[in-house]
Amino acid sequence: MSRLPNVEEVIAWAREAGHLLMQGLGRAHDIRYKGLTDPVTEMDRASEALLIQRIRAAFPEHTIITEESGTLGKGDDTCWYIDPLDGTVNYAHGLPIFAVSVAFVHEGVPQVGVVYDPSRDECFYAMRGAGAFLNGRPIHPSETTELIRSLLVTGFPYDMSGREPDNLDLYAHFARRSQGVRRLGSAALDLCYVAAGRLDGYWEMGVAPWDIAAAMVIAEEAGVVVTRLTGEPNPLILPCNLLAANPGLYPHLLAEVRTVLGKDTTSAISASGDDGRGARAAKPTA
Ligand code: IPD
Ligand code: CA
Ligand code: CA
Repeated sequence: MSRLPNVEEVIAWAREAGHLLMQGLGRAHDIRYKGLTDPVTEMDRASEALLIQRIRAAFPEHTIITEESGTLGKGDDTCWYIDPLDGTVNYAHGLPIFAVSVAFVHEGVPQVGVVYDPSRDECFYAMRGAGAFLNGRPIHPSETTELIRSLLVTGFPYDMSGREPDNLDLYAHFARRSQGVRRLGSAALDLCYVAAGRLDGYWEMGVAPWDIAAAMVIAEEAGVVVTRLTGEPNPLILPCNLLAANPGLYPHLLAEVRTVLGKDTTSAISASGDDGRGARAAKPTA
């Protein structure tokens, strides 16, 4: 492997992309659709072009797996996952809950992650083995271990027609048993907020590797337990899905998920290697 990226340089790129996004916030957008329901604005593309340019200038040999331009490069074991605007629907409505997400991944394991929220000027970042930080301060998950006292978050895919298993079942189940379930609209921020102890747990199915790769290393370095919804390792294997919570709450959430999804449906969210979204599966680590 060539040199490891320096987290400071990745922060600088994410901040630059975030500032670009802020210039377009609240303005009218050219919204197109990938497929029937998945929106993309001209600002998603502008932010992505900037990030690709910065990564290529620093690491010309690296593969870059992007949300809007697909896989650039050879597709080897060392790659970047970039989501130039996580929270496109919020952004397109002028709702300031969105982020830039950049991850450096080696052999399927995120090593460096930066999630920048330009609306709040909050930069979450981590390098594997070196802890997780928010604007320079170490972050840690909450200590809420009782489900009834916990504040949870989830998300839903754009296309909810005919999806099995259905996240609405899990949503209803947890809404009745917790302090509340939020739906913020940015998977990267959802996971970073669990890392920072603002939320106690998060689950989602139907995400893509660029949604969660950066926040995954941030959450794990903060001390969050991050697995697939089934409790297996490596949420980045397609079809991507995850369950994340502070270590005390995690076993309770997993038990509830198993109760709701049952034995049969968990096979539908186990790692298979392809979910038809065009995303490249990360290599299994266990
Ligand atoms: C979406 C957001 C959302 C999640 C969706 C993602 P995008 O990403 O992260 O919270 O529920 O599954 O696709 O399209 O805004 O980059
Ligand atoms: Ca996303
Ligand atoms: Ca996006």
